[in-house]
Amino acid sequence: MHSPEAMRKVKKELAEVIGVGKAVEESDVARLPYMQAVIKESLRMHPPAPLLLPRRAKTDVEVCGWTVPKGAQVLINEWAIGRSPEVWDDAHVFSPERFLDSDIDVKGRHFKLTPFGSGRRICPGSPLAVRMLHLMLGSLVNCFDWKLDNNMEPKIWTWMNRLGQFLFHCKIPDSAFNCFCLFPCVFVYFFSCFFSELFYCTLISVIK
Ligand code: HEM
Repeated sequence: MHSPEAMRKVKKELAEVIGVGKAVEESDVARLPYMQAVIKESLRMHPPAPLLLPRRAKTDVEVCGWTVPKGAQVLINEWAIGRSPEVWDDAHVFSPERFLDSDIDVKGRHFKLTPFGSGRRICPGSPLAVRMLHLMLGSLVNCFDWKLDNNMEPKIWTWMNRLGQFLFHCKIPDSAFNCFCLFPCVFVYFFSCFFSELFYCTLISVIK
């Protein structure tokens, strides 16, 4: 809905591959590359677990030149990695096309896109989640025409994204975007959520 062009392309693909108004089935998914790319792009820009799950280092360990001391709590800022211009071209643009000729997936092998984590503690529910995302998103888009509430302009939502970027970028060092690093930023995260929510509620009240 935020990207009318991507919405148009997904609807077109669904209409051509399975026919308008039909629910998507598992066997259809392989024939829907654009929708697969839309889901990866959504997980890149809007990871449902923006800081993954907290972990604690059992021993001193060196990661990308940084020393993580024994006992330190480690938070992976997946949200910031997904939006980092050092990692992605046009990082703040919703562009599913970037995944069309790419082998990047969400199985934890590509550290630039790990919405389900990586390694031995990767989300065990990810195969189920990925299947459900395709079936649900595809069916919802194929069976309904969607629009923003009160014909709201997508740019209003962009302001909200910008606010989120500001709150994150002003607190987190650039070097942290490059790799899995250590931050004591759980407070920043909660404050960011709080202020974003406050801004959102105020905005909605003003619009209403
Ligand atoms: C879009 C949906 C989902 C997302 C984005 C997600 C994301 C995550 C992430 C980021 C982690 C932490 C991985 C890490 O620290 O490396 C995790 C762990 C976990 N997830 Fe999910 N998850 C999703 C759906 C599910 C579902 C459907 C289930 C169960 C059916 C599930 C069960 C678990 C469990 C049990 C863990 C803990 C694994 C461990 O610590 O060993 N998740 N998930």
